[in-house]
Amino acid sequence: MHLTRDEELLLQGERGDTLRRAMEILVALGDIYEAERLIEIKSAQIAGVSYKTIGDAGLEWISDLNGKVAVPSILNPAGMDLLKWREMSIDEDFARKQLAIIDAYRRLGVAIECTCTPYLLYESIASRGDHLAWSESSAVSYANSVIGAMTNREGGPSALAAALVGKTPLYGYHLEENRVPTHVISVEADVKEYGALGFLAGKIVGDGVPLFVMRSRPDRDDLKALGAAMAASGSVALYYVKGVTQEPPQYDPDACEIIEIEDEDIRSVYDSRADAGDVDIVALGCPHCSLQELEGIADLLEGRKVSKELWICTSRRVAESAPETVRRIESTGARVICDTCMVVSPASERFSHMMVNSGKAFVYIPGMCGVKATLGSLEDCINAATGGS
Ligand code: F3S
Repeated sequence: MHLTRDEELLLQGERGDTLRRAMEILVALGDIYEAERLIEIKSAQIAGVSYKTIGDAGLEWISDLNGKVAVPSILNPAGMDLLKWREMSIDEDFARKQLAIIDAYRRLGVAIECTCTPYLLYESIASRGDHLAWSESSAVSYANSVIGAMTNREGGPSALAAALVGKTPLYGYHLEENRVPTHVISVEADVKEYGALGFLAGKIVGDGVPLFVMRSRPDRDDLKALGAAMAASGSVALYYVKGVTQEPPQYDPDACEIIEIEDEDIRSVYDSRADAGDVDIVALGCPHCSLQELEGIADLLEGRKVSKELWICTSRRVAESAPETVRRIESTGARVICDTCMVVSPASERFSHMMVNSGKAFVYIPGMCGVKATLGSLEDCINAATGGS
């Protein structure tokens, strides 16, 4: 990979050990993917935050870094609600180490938003055509597909390295030629729950770039759910929905695989679920809930009381912007949980069967938490939590 004189100096350690280490990561990536050069990025979104996933080695690595990020950089969810961790039954040792990780990121100048939906908080961090270094898979999918920005799915260390240097290697989804559709998915169903559609589509497409042609018109929350599920059941980082998202670049339709998804295919995702009778926790908010989603949940819960644990995960900033909505939700016995989620927090591990409405959580909960997972619609989930039908 070609480096400018300044980049060479960074790599030689002329501006300190942290930037030298960051450059080593970027150069290694660039060499692997045969990138021609580094390009400037507008922002970074950094995963690798929960002590559950990065452990002592991760804590040590981050604590050892000095300096400040060069571009606006936002942190992914941590392993606990940073304020109400005791109410989540998080143990003291975990909390101490998690807070040390947060402190280390804060010293580097990373915004401690702890969310996978940074685009709901700051419009300025990504616009169409911007190059980014984001790492959480649903955020990557949203940035590429809905915003029209350009990012690879970075690992935590490479996103942090890019944040410190302000650059990333030019390869993958930063190049227009890798952003053409590989599959055309015609959706005949009248889609209401996009997590189930995404779960199906991701399994079919793998790491391809699907172009959906559908009669339903997904809104931004629907697109968030669709992308998150496809990134988990497959590894889709970019998709298009005809007439809804940006248009794809010039492509050859004859080179695309054609797929049809019908009502019964989507129903089969729900039909394949395990018996929901022994569900002992219901968790919503994967990816983190938007304000509109929180309000929708508050409306559905109106006049009910939960009979099972019900978690609603969101960013602290969204929760704090809607205290009355949070109060309405929590008055039913449900909990609004910030800074973390059902997948990356060890708090999920004390349950045995979780019901979710997210295609992504449905994929990850069994492996990451050792908990049986059932996928339901939002309404199914609220009914399961409140004993309604
Ligand atoms: Fe976000 Fe956690 Fe889901 S990080 S996308 S809520 S697994």
